[in-house]
Amino acid sequence: MGRVLVTGGAGYIGSHTCLELLNAGFEITVVDNLSNSTQESLQRVSTLTGKEIAFFKVDLLDAEALDTVFSRSDFGTVIHFAALKAVGESVAQPLQYYQNNVTGTVNLCQAMQRHGVTNLVFSSSATVYGIPKSLPLTEQSETLIHEVTNPYGRTKLMVEFVLKDWQRAFPAMNVALLRYFNPVGAHVSGRIGEDPNGIPNNLLPYVSQVAVGRLEKLGVFGDDYETADGTGVRDYIHVVDLAVGHVLAVKKLSENPGVVTYNLGTGIGYSVFQIIAAFEEASGQRIPFEILPRRAGDVAACFADPSLAKLELGWSANRGLQEMCIDGWRWQSNNPNGYA
Ligand code: NAD
Ligand code: WQD
Repeated sequence: MGRVLVTGGAGYIGSHTCLELLNAGFEITVVDNLSNSTQESLQRVSTLTGKEIAFFKVDLLDAEALDTVFSRSDFGTVIHFAALKAVGESVAQPLQYYQNNVTGTVNLCQAMQRHGVTNLVFSSSATVYGIPKSLPLTEQSETLIHEVTNPYGRTKLMVEFVLKDWQRAFPAMNVALLRYFNPVGAHVSGRIGEDPNGIPNNLLPYVSQVAVGRLEKLGVFGDDYETADGTGVRDYIHVVDLAVGHVLAVKKLSENPGVVTYNLGTGIGYSVFQIIAAFEEASGQRIPFEILPRRAGDVAACFADPSLAKLELGWSANRGLQEMCIDGWRWQSNNPNGYA
């Protein structure tokens, strides 16, 4: 079936995808600079699957080291997760984000080109839609670079353009742009999961750290949005459903489709208050919270129309909110300090 190169494979979504790839019979190589992860995640994936992972601690900005990885194996497909992803940090350090996420991707593409690797799956994001003009978001919804609300999001949209231009010039290339909504939860084993550095920026890791007693209370960023209960609404998707979507995308690229773009979401939006209630039920813990002002750059509501992925990949999310919270809680309560 060919070996898959996974960049950023030690990270949250990458580690879950490695597990699904191995279970689907693929051999994999991971490159990661471990700037936001630890190799322990991959060791656990190997233990869970009973299969080996070839690992290289390489930074995508080190073109020479990257080239060496390509020299050592023949890759059928590359899945490209490696990126910096903290929205607030990207506002403070935009150059670091453009260099890591855009230059890192260009280096990767150049290595692929030198070594004749033609299939690439890219981690894009619903953030490319900016402030939604209508919901649900389809792949045809507008993506305007000046309407993306932060530099991180702009790196994602810029890379989409880089990859489309590249494929136009080299039509033998196949590229899947996967626009994730809000990935949450963890593998059912409770052995791998999300382990953010420092205070979490995202809702679910914050809520689970309150539940486990690492943080005192949640701040709810605004209760005066035009949503049913006034809090922000998002399309949370179980990370294992997302991982399975990548396996199907790898298979899709073997049909030589050129560039394909898919929303990976459930199509259902939940509010912050609904998340708090679901997590309280899953964990049996109370989640104290206080209402804070809105967070800059946040939109009221964002959710997907995932029907194209269903039609063309045969993919749909089948793990609901309860499962996302139960699995996320199993990971958090079994590993209160993450991988440390
Ligand atoms: P993560 O930080 O857990 O994983 C990213 C991995 O890439 C990390 O292991 C990190 O060490 C590595 N990395 C970063 N820069 C690198 C470089 N220059 N060279 C080599 N390795 C590098 O994040 P994640 O949540 O697993 O996200 C994976 C991808 O999905 C990212 O591209 C992210 O932008 C995208 N995405 C994430 C979300 C989300 O909410 N988690 C939503 C949409 C899109
Ligand atoms: C969800 C909801 C917050 C934290 C981000 C990125 C996006 C994508 C996914 C990568 C919102 C509210 C949150 C808290 C809160 N990542 N909230 N208190 O902002 O939808 O998306 O992650 O591509 O690009 O922007 O996710 O989890 O931060 O927020 O009230 O402490 O929870 O206001 O309504 P978001 P989030």
